[in-house]
Amino acid sequence: MATTKRHDVKDLALAPEGVRRIEWADRQMPVLQSIRDRFEREQPLAGYRVAACLHVTTETANLMRTLKAGGADVVLCASNPLSTQDDVAAALVDEFDISCFAIKGEDNETYYQHIEAAVDHKPHLTMDDGADVIGVLHSARREQLGEIIAGTEETTTGVIRLKAMEADGALAFPVIAVNEAKTKHLFDNRYGTGQSTIDGIIRATNVLLAGKRFVVAGYGWVGRGVALRARGMGAHVIVTEVDPMRALEALMDGYEVLPMADAAKIGDIFCTATGDKHVIAREHVEVMKDGSILANTGHFNVEIDIPAIRGLAEETREARQFVEEFTMSDGRRIYLLAEGRLVNISAAEGHPAIVMDMSFANQSLAAEYAVQNAGTLERKVYPVPQAIDEEIARLKLATMGIDIDQLTEEQAKYLASWDEGT
Ligand SMILES: NC(=O)c1ccc[n+]([C@@H]2O[C@H](COP(=O)([O-])OP(=O)(O)OC[C@H]3O[C@@H](n4cnc5c(N)ncnc54)[C@H](O)[C@@H]3O)[C@@H](O)[C@H]2O)c1
Repeated sequence: MATTKRHDVKDLALAPEGVRRIEWADRQMPVLQSIRDRFEREQPLAGYRVAACLHVTTETANLMRTLKAGGADVVLCASNPLSTQDDVAAALVDEFDISCFAIKGEDNETYYQHIEAAVDHKPHLTMDDGADVIGVLHSARREQLGEIIAGTEETTTGVIRLKAMEADGALAFPVIAVNEAKTKHLFDNRYGTGQSTIDGIIRATNVLLAGKRFVVAGYGWVGRGVALRARGMGAHVIVTEVDPMRALEALMDGYEVLPMADAAKIGDIFCTATGDKHVIAREHVEVMKDGSILANTGHFNVEIDIPAIRGLAEETREARQFVEEFTMSDGRRIYLLAEGRLVNISAAEGHPAIVMDMSFANQSLAAEYAVQNAGTLERKVYPVPQAIDEEIARLKLATMGIDIDQLTEEQAKYLASWDEGT
């Protein structure tokens, strides 16, 4: 199909493969499908332009199809230079007639040009994974701020940035924090990232995890998923934390807890999942064993101090695709995966569709909610309304064929009372 949509993708000839993979993912996204069917009938987003900046994957393509079905005029750009699936980008443009700006491996300059191209779409709604569109709108494109009704934000790091903007009085429009929905972070961050991070590390290196010392930095929703799956593969998992409550949880979940300075000396594989900066720093790399593998699954590529590693290395070469080998002056070799970017989306395919079904159901319904409540929302970061969150859980269970019990009238009354004891 000859597209009329603006785009910058690697190669439109990749579209047929992208279409097949998008359809494959769609079969595992029944909740999103049901929302798409309703959107098609009700057109809740008719007349609205949406600029989305998300990982350009098969699952995201199905979200874009859903927004379009709801009447929105959509543009998509990448939320990470390495996470784009080029066949999906091609399919979006060529088959689904959706504007897309994303090329896997694009440099930083192109990455930001693509965000600017999305902002050129003059959106009424923004949809971010890491707050980059909102960042550009609040700096280089302030003249467009007045046209924006609301935004949505997909990930923990983005929500942290946006809450900081709200606290500073800098946030110019309301944003719905999709990450805060239970049907998002409890499943996507934990099970989706947990599985796909291990997948990315294995695809990049083909190492055996059994018997390895696997260090997970951060025991949040992502960290606990990674730790759980690494343990499942037979690794001895060590957790590093700064939060005493989470360190205690990690300990009682059966993991060894150490400061990074100690873990660095004994770990074989390291994976950061903190949303924080320089969690693996120069002094840690200096004491690591020969052959240590370093990966990150937190949002930005700042968790590992990569410039420090480059500074320490005498020689650098690509050992395999997505594996950079740094040889130190004492002969030790340290391996960095996927340039320190999200390893699960850079070296593997990201979260399985079945969890993204819930995340993107939240995105779709958050967009609808934002439009419906345009006049009343303030310039704040809002959670996804509980009713939407619970409805998604109910729908998800139904699509999985799982029934649960209902409170009896007597139980409902008992749980709401305070006067009945033993
Ligand atoms: N790879 C993916 O696909 C994917 C998916 C979801 C979220 N994320 C990203 O992963 C990161 C973590 O998300 P989350 O939902 O688990 O967040 P979270 O807030 O639940 O957990 C982060 C944890 O890291 C800990 N931490 C912070 N600084 C630390 C340090 N210096 N050393 C050790 N621990 C430290 C915090 O105490 C916290 O327990 C974020 O950047 C988020 O955006 C990535």
